[in-house]
Amino acid sequence: MYLGIDLGTSAVKIVLVDDAQRVVASRSRPLTVSSPHPGHCEQDPAHWIEATFAALDALKADHARELAEVEGVGLSGQMHGATLLDAGLRPLRPCILWNDGRSFAECAELERRWPALRATTGNKAMPGFTAPKLMWVARHEPEIFAATGLVLQPKAYLRLVLTGEAIEDVSDASGSLWLDVIRRDWSDEGLAATALSRRQMPRLVEGCAPAARLRTELAQRWGMSRRPMIAGGAGDNPAGAIGIGAINPGAAFISLGTSGALLVPTKTVASNPERVVHTFCHAVPGRWIQAGAILSAASCLAWIARLLRASESDLLAPLGLCPQAPSPVSFLPYLSGERTPHDDPDVRGMLDGLSHATDRDAIVQAVLEGVAFALADCRDVLAETGLAIAEADVIGGGSRSRFWLAVLANVLNIPVHRFAEGETGAAFGAARLGRLAVTGETIEAVCTAPQRVETFEPEPALAQAYAARLAQWRRLYQPR
Ligand code: XUL
Repeated sequence: MYLGIDLGTSAVKIVLVDDAQRVVASRSRPLTVSSPHPGHCEQDPAHWIEATFAALDALKADHARELAEVEGVGLSGQMHGATLLDAGLRPLRPCILWNDGRSFAECAELERRWPALRATTGNKAMPGFTAPKLMWVARHEPEIFAATGLVLQPKAYLRLVLTGEAIEDVSDASGSLWLDVIRRDWSDEGLAATALSRRQMPRLVEGCAPAARLRTELAQRWGMSRRPMIAGGAGDNPAGAIGIGAINPGAAFISLGTSGALLVPTKTVASNPERVVHTFCHAVPGRWIQAGAILSAASCLAWIARLLRASESDLLAPLGLCPQAPSPVSFLPYLSGERTPHDDPDVRGMLDGLSHATDRDAIVQAVLEGVAFALADCRDVLAETGLAIAEADVIGGGSRSRFWLAVLANVLNIPVHRFAEGETGAAFGAARLGRLAVTGETIEAVCTAPQRVETFEPEPALAQAYAARLAQWRRLYQPR
């Protein structure tokens, strides 16, 4: 029996997976994001722990027998967050999250201080990443910076609480901007550029490697007969890749979570930081992931549902199964700025083309299309990098909407596929990493592709209409 724990942005999700890779049970607990200033996004690490413990307690209430048999645990998590701990391993301030735009000025400064940054990390310095956040803290909260004994990304903090050890996997560490992605090790030069050193960093392991065992008292709390091994785990997107067996070049997939991404596994680093392609080590050795990342995807649907005081399913139902034509309204999904391709934390969303005839359905359709257009931007920068995408699987909460998948197929003009387990992707992938860490099985044997339940094919006339609309949509973005 294996556990996968995904520390997301909007929830902690836990899945219990049996030896036949069937999801036996799942539990989740919500999380909220605070925004003390415009463009700032933070979470209290204590809430991650409360939510994880509550979800595990709930699992124990109904599945004590299965939980007792857990041998391996995998963690996945929202990437890039800066959790600063003091010498006593206590958080010094709320975690600064992946979608926080405050450190834009520090990014330019970091690239000046460390000219080899792009060649070493495969990435452009962007405010979402961890290193510029530390520079912001050094400038604006010097007493906190001076007291920082350890810097962890969210799931490494969770692992510290679960095991007592500070350990990070190389896929999540890639989101820090301190990792040499080819050597899969910290860059001393990069750390020095932000006045830090290895002493303040967790030990690194591969995602599918054993990291540390669950503390005895926690194993007892959840009735586990032995102390399960916790694997390295992965950032949410690499973990999602493991969940659908996307380990080989060509296995492109789209994640429609709170954020969105179009991702391709590779066997070599094919970086293109100039066009804001993201480079991450994969959760298995000798593989990488190249990605276009957008900051708001399913969160755009959640936003419009909040605004219109309706549930997401009520908004989606009247749209039917497939669009007849692009909406007359256009939407820029930049609700918390954008990474690929603009790297612009200050840009904001927009609705264009409103008239007296505009109804709710036209706006909801435009929101879904805006996210699809942003993913078309990701597709194009990956193509410039030499990574052509002929088809894509879709995972994440947004993949539950068949209408949205039909929009994606037509906007990207490729077949897109849906799985039955789309909504549990990252946690399921994490459970697979937990299994790999304890069984000694091959990666190929465990990381198989689940069955696709449906394929959405583009229709030539509609794809052509969307291609014309994409060109107009692109003109709406005004660089700062
Ligand atoms: C990836 C990214 C997001 C977060 C939150 O670069 O920032 O995917 O991990 O989901």
